[in-house]
Amino acid sequence: MSSAILEKAPVAAEPLLPVVGSELAAPLIHGGHVRYANLDYAASAPAVEDVAAHLSEVLPYYASVHRGAGFASQVSTSVYENARHIVAGFVGARADDTVIFTRNTTDSLNLLAGCVQSLLAGNGFTEGVSNAHGEVLYLDIEHHANLLPWQGLPHRSVVAGQSLASTLSRVETQLRAGNVVLLAVTGASNVTGEVLPVAELAALAHQYGARIVVDAAQLAPHRRIDMARDGIDFLAFSGHKLYAPFGSGVLVGRPDWLDAGTPHLAGGGAVKDVRLESVRWTEGPARHEAGSPNVLGAATLARAAQVLAGLDADEWHAHEQQLRSHLVAGLSETDGVTVHHLFSDADTYPNAGSIGVVNFSVEGYDAGLVAAYLSAEHGVGVRDGKFCAHPLLRRLGLPSGSLRASFGVGSRLEDADRLIAGIRTLLADGLGWDYVVDAGRWVPANDSRSYPAWAPNTPGTAGAAPCTTD
Ligand code: ALA
Repeated sequence: MSSAILEKAPVAAEPLLPVVGSELAAPLIHGGHVRYANLDYAASAPAVEDVAAHLSEVLPYYASVHRGAGFASQVSTSVYENARHIVAGFVGARADDTVIFTRNTTDSLNLLAGCVQSLLAGNGFTEGVSNAHGEVLYLDIEHHANLLPWQGLPHRSVVAGQSLASTLSRVETQLRAGNVVLLAVTGASNVTGEVLPVAELAALAHQYGARIVVDAAQLAPHRRIDMARDGIDFLAFSGHKLYAPFGSGVLVGRPDWLDAGTPHLAGGGAVKDVRLESVRWTEGPARHEAGSPNVLGAATLARAAQVLAGLDADEWHAHEQQLRSHLVAGLSETDGVTVHHLFSDADTYPNAGSIGVVNFSVEGYDAGLVAAYLSAEHGVGVRDGKFCAHPLLRRLGLPSGSLRASFGVGSRLEDADRLIAGIRTLLADGLGWDYVVDAGRWVPANDSRSYPAWAPNTPGTAGAAPCTTD
């Protein structure tokens, strides 16, 4: 972080944008309530208020998309198709890129994997790609969403180095060996928040006749993306991490592979003509969007994109970097806490840095127990576990997981302070309550706190919904 940013007034004292639920009251195990400190944006971010307001605006016009002559259907169709243009602009897509609405990043990457599979099984690639019978190359730091879809195809993996420089060199060695059709990389690690230099990776991929797909689930909510400038062929991200948690994700990218791939879903809307025993599939986004589309998800995702695009870039960056520096400093200065990083040169490598995600462990305490304690005794929400990145956690020597604090436009310095204070109290005084393992999760013993009346379970009871640490 530059000293200029540190010297500025603490812009992170307040949220950058109002988000729904920012004053939510969380019940404490000892009684009473406290403002919920949401430090779990990397899993699912709250809706920006403007996005939620747009949902209410669109809702009265909600009707079938592409399938009705009625006024509401026409409005819904227009909103849905316009959302593609807004998303394309948000990520700097090329004029001919296809924007496909999906459920989330996982869905988007599986969709692309299906296209790659059908292309590999067919006549091979034509435009701009010379490796007709190749493999997908991915790093060991990937979220499972950008790893498991490729395991079903011919593939190779690379163990990332201790630095970005060595990691890029390893990637280049694999690319030089030939036969790679697609390099699949994360834009920013969902485990540590470290950003990868995607433009440089794209240039490398292209140099060796491959294309690149960037898993931007974590990057898109934090950094401006320019696919055309950076040479990103395909990009995937989710609305629920982009302050639009209404069920939509996106895949943006080159139309040739997407139009030649087997449709992601077989069904209505994806076809030109159907006979009893045969079908002619359509092209463009509809090819992969069979069934009634999620117009509300697309509309809100597009509105979130517009809101983020309207932020002052310096202010946005300063807000996030102040929060991150404050939290990393507070945790690092606490004896018994280890902050985990992947790359020694993350802060100095060109076009890298870190987003608002901080990963750490507390000596002597299971990560799940610390997370349960922070929630029950301090009203602080963090994620613990293996973050759907098992190979990475194993390599980092954290096979049973760690803790992750993450933030975004609705966060404030007080959230980070609450986390730091909670950890310091734990290390100084120990737990203030008994905790037990229930259905594989640490929970407070004899928890009498209630969910809202309309929610089905009481936390900590045997009937509570299981929460995965995966
Ligand atoms: N992929 C999300 C995460 O990293 C859920 O937490």
